[in-house]
Amino acid sequence: MKFINKVVLVTGGSRGIGKAAAAAFAAEGASVIVNYHTNKTAAEETLAQLNPAGKHMIYQCDAADSAETEKMIGHINSVYGKIDVAIINAGIAITHKIAEVDFNTWQDTWAKVLGVNLIGPANIMYLTARAMMKTGGGKIVAVSSRGAYRGEPDEPAYGASKAGLNSLCQSMAKALAPYKIYVSAVAPGWIVTDLAERYLNGPGGEDIKNQSPLKRAGTPEEVANAILYLASDGSEYTTGAILDVNGASYFR
Ligand SMILES: NC(=O)c1ccc[n+]([C@@H]2O[C@H](COP(=O)([O-])OP(=O)(O)OC[C@H]3O[C@@H](n4cnc5c(N)ncnc54)[C@H](OP(=O)(O)O)[C@@H]3O)[C@@H](O)[C@H]2O)c1
Repeated sequence: MKFINKVVLVTGGSRGIGKAAAAAFAAEGASVIVNYHTNKTAAEETLAQLNPAGKHMIYQCDAADSAETEKMIGHINSVYGKIDVAIINAGIAITHKIAEVDFNTWQDTWAKVLGVNLIGPANIMYLTARAMMKTGGGKIVAVSSRGAYRGEPDEPAYGASKAGLNSLCQSMAKALAPYKIYVSAVAPGWIVTDLAERYLNGPGGEDIKNQSPLKRAGTPEEVANAILYLASDGSEYTTGAILDVNGASYFR
């Protein structure tokens, strides 16, 4: 039980990769805060499936809203007295093809996607790091994407948000190391979740799976295993790393 007595926040922990990460940490003895946005039923289902050894809770909060996230971190501190690990996972992807959308939609999409995928993570990183500084350190793992590297012609805000997130993690790995706070990211390729479902089950689904020599998309559990490793004791020298979890579908 590698995470016994550890307090782990998972943003977007109600479904997909976040849900698998919440289960993986709980299985290792952690107390997990499952953050969700709108889908309370999914959050409650996730909570019900966690190893009961830890003291878990669900917490509703829009990860793009700085006031709400500040309240969430304050609440976690008041209940548990610390945050050992923050998994910054909540994210959205919106298609906004430059040749098809009007200018208002273009701008709205950039604001929305950067809000959830970059500005929100920057704020959560600030708040959790400041809490971790008071308790002697911690680990922060962000869920980035292969899209940060390979270009996302149909979802340019998504690709840019993840490239920004990588840069944020690397900057913070340097800034926070003196405080024993270690920051890293995973960069998944296609993973079987609600977010990817419309692509994986669409007309291009087989081509997507064939991008990997494994001829399949990844599972949320495979990403969760990578997250678990980066957040583990003994992984400190991986700070600043961005770990590909893409089934050899893309090399950078
Ligand atoms: N699936 C892939 O192929 C893939 C590939 C590369 C990277 N990723 C990244 O992996 C992360 C998780 O993706 P996923 O595929 O697991 O997505 P998902 O199945 O759509 O789940 C998204 C999770 O994020 C939460 N969420 C969304 N917006 C939020 C907000 N504003 N505030 C708080 N929570 C919010 C959702 O909460 P509700 O349940 O309340 O809606 C849900 O728990 C994302 O950052 C995504 O970019 C995914």
